[in-house]
Amino acid sequence: MPLSLDLGTPVNTALLIYILYSVQKIIFPPAPDLSTVPRTVPTEFKHGYSWMPKSHPPTVLFRTYTPRTLEPFNGLDGGRILLAINGVVFDVTAGRNFYGPDGMYGNFAGRDASRGMAKQSFDVEMLTPVDQPLDKLEDLKPDEIENMKGWIDHFSNKYIICGKLVENDAV
Ligand code: HEM
Repeated sequence: MPLSLDLGTPVNTALLIYILYSVQKIIFPPAPDLSTVPRTVPTEFKHGYSWMPKSHPPTVLFRTYTPRTLEPFNGLDGGRILLAINGVVFDVTAGRNFYGPDGMYGNFAGRDASRGMAKQSFDVEMLTPVDQPLDKLEDLKPDEIENMKGWIDHFSNKYIICGKLVENDAV
């Protein structure tokens, strides 16, 4: 059946005009709107870009901590709060409600929390004094080790890992 276009129909006429208009836009693209294009090449960020944040977001550096250097990060001064589980140091500042001075788990702030996490206890004797060697956790039962690993998973999903914990005399 031969293809025929009845230009007498208003719809067909409108379609043809639209097609011709689209084709000419492809062949002769419109010139850019010069009022929105910078006239000079920007030499400074603050003049050239509007997306620059007001201040640099805080950066977290992966560091090696010892029990003594971790202890000051206990949140008592309102600053960062760190804690360690099985040698992994987490920045738990975002959980200040839990680990701040008035938090339910404030005892873990700035400390090696491994044993307390393993045994599900915040008793004081779960914490090794900061001037003593690291808790080797050798006496923990398999289910306690599993419990501790569960907490490591929880913390890894929620907080930033910002360092590792080593013996006081290792650095
Ligand atoms: C009196 C019994 C306890 C109650 C009522 C309790 C209650 C809670 C509640 C409501 C949360 C918040 C859960 C969430 O929002 O995700 C939580 C989290 C937590 N609990 Fe307990 N808890 C108890 C005992 C313990 C003990 C003995 C430990 C010792 C290890 C512990 C360690 C934690 C930790 C580490 C978190 C996670 C906090 C975080 O996400 O930073 N809890 N608990």
